[in-house]
Amino acid sequence: MRRAVCPGSFDPVTNGHLDIIERASRLFDEVVVAVGVNASKNRMFTADERMEMLRESCAGWSNVSVDGFSGLLTTFCVEHDVHAIVKGLRAVSDFDYELQMAQMNASLTDIETVFVPTSPEYSFLASSLVKEVATFGGNVSRLVPDHVYARLTARLAEIAARA
Ligand code: PNS
Repeated sequence: MRRAVCPGSFDPVTNGHLDIIERASRLFDEVVVAVGVNASKNRMFTADERMEMLRESCAGWSNVSVDGFSGLLTTFCVEHDVHAIVKGLRAVSDFDYELQMAQMNASLTDIETVFVPTSPEYSFLASSLVKEVATFGGNVSRLVPDHVYARLTARLAEIAARA
């Protein structure tokens, strides 16, 4: 049984993330989507909300599950018998940091990182950009699943009402 992890913040999950997760699900027997819950970044969605959106998005893939983790990713991998970390690479600009993390993680637990090239139609896609464009009224409906778009729109309306 080869089990891989797709880690990330997923704030919120985009169609680019789902492309990588779906392709990972064809490469491995089991894929765990691991949502980082470390409080290091300003999030638009709570960890529970991010996991709910992922569970709904991944419901059609029977070998994909969603979990949260705090602390080191390598600790999660050891505890969940995970053999590989799958990361999407959008462009060469992603590579330096991803290589550094892959090498650090390998030095900690001897785990492999598998880089999957992002499909060209998603190469510009990032959760941070989706949030920024949506905040200023741009149409991001084609970049995230419909249910995520609905939640994003609702959250932006809540934020606007509080301001
Ligand atoms: O979606 P992101 O923000 O690029 O995800 C980054 C994430 C959560 C995968 C990464 O920050 C991570 O693995 N964090 C856990 C803490 C950790 O293990 N740090 C050492 C990395 S070498």
